[in-house]
Amino acid sequence: MKLLITGGAGFIGSNFIHHILGKYDDYEVICLDKLTYSGNKKNNESWSDDKRYTLVVGDICDQKLVDSLVKNVDAIVHFAAETHVDRSVLSAREFVMTNVIGTQTLLDSAKKYKKRFHHISTDEVFGELSPLESAFTEDTPYDPRSPYSASKAASDHLVRAYFHTHDLPITISNCTNNYGPYIYPEKLIPLTITNLLEGKKATVYGNGNQIRDWLHVSDHCAAIDLILHEGKIGETYGVGGDNQPTNLQIVQSIVALLGKSEEGSIEFVGDRPGHDFRYDINYSKINKELGWSPQMTLDQGLEQTVQWFKENESWWKPLKGSSYEKYMRDHMSDK
Ligand SMILES: NC(=O)c1ccc[n+]([C@@H]2O[C@H](COP(=O)([O-])OP(=O)(O)OC[C@H]3O[C@@H](n4cnc5c(N)ncnc54)[C@H](O)[C@@H]3O)[C@@H](O)[C@H]2O)c1
Repeated sequence: MKLLITGGAGFIGSNFIHHILGKYDDYEVICLDKLTYSGNKKNNESWSDDKRYTLVVGDICDQKLVDSLVKNVDAIVHFAAETHVDRSVLSAREFVMTNVIGTQTLLDSAKKYKKRFHHISTDEVFGELSPLESAFTEDTPYDPRSPYSASKAASDHLVRAYFHTHDLPITISNCTNNYGPYIYPEKLIPLTITNLLEGKKATVYGNGNQIRDWLHVSDHCAAIDLILHEGKIGETYGVGGDNQPTNLQIVQSIVALLGKSEEGSIEFVGDRPGHDFRYDINYSKINKELGWSPQMTLDQGLEQTVQWFKENESWWKPLKGSSYEKYMRDHMSDK
């Protein structure tokens, strides 16, 4: 099988490439990635000499390029996106371009060449939950609250529309917050780990009581693999972890894993505008239909991720060094 993996140089996409090429000897992968700030060739460098792996640096909005790649593959697994909520608060344009127009470009190509299409999405399209509300399911009405989640919601609707209108063989997965190796150090878990490793403080938005349902990226990749091969065409699957820690508890766990004391390690900063309070997704559909459930507990996953960052300073240090520091200085100094 030959797969076109968009955004395969990013966090989850590169983990998925490791998963696929590690598991299936006879699979080939074309990674189409624009190498934006969060895309990194190094994430897949262990495959660079493998004939089954090809990197194409390009934009998913480029119809001609996308057509030339899509016609030669069996399926498209679509990860490419602008993904950081804070960046979407500062400027939404790139989010609409890549997440909406880029997805539509890929869909037109998939329609033209009649290709299987799996779309990676987020539970953030469902909005936020209060503490006692039941977890999101595949039937929860969409209610996105950030420019990021609004653009992902638009892309989900387009994917579903191509199924109904054009009979395109699609599936969608809506997953909760991921963490693990190769996660760009701007998101809560890697930012906390790397700040502490650098001797800086971990920052917590507001009072840190926001609740997330964390899933290790290896479990997400296993779910996508199953849906791609065994999912029912036209269906959506919710993919989630089995936990509901607050952001503060996550930071406290990392502080403890690094052997630091909380006092002097944590700084509370102003909250993100429109910060969603809680996410949680019910994964009973994928569990019943495809037999998937998360295999890694949050404690195991956090320990593994902290260890990975300790051992891979040469991967994350340059990312925090230049444009990242400038971005944080320019945009986050008031938070
Ligand atoms: N990270 C999470 O917790 C999470 C949770 C649920 C769903 N998702 C979804 O999973 C997907 C991957 O997320 P991630 O965390 O790996 O993101 P990421 O930011 O680490 O990676 C995104 C990748 O897309 C590439 N890209 C961006 N714009 C592009 C364009 N126009 N053309 C080609 N490539 C482009 C980037 O270079 C990068 O390699 C996204 O669709 C995201 O919405 C993420």
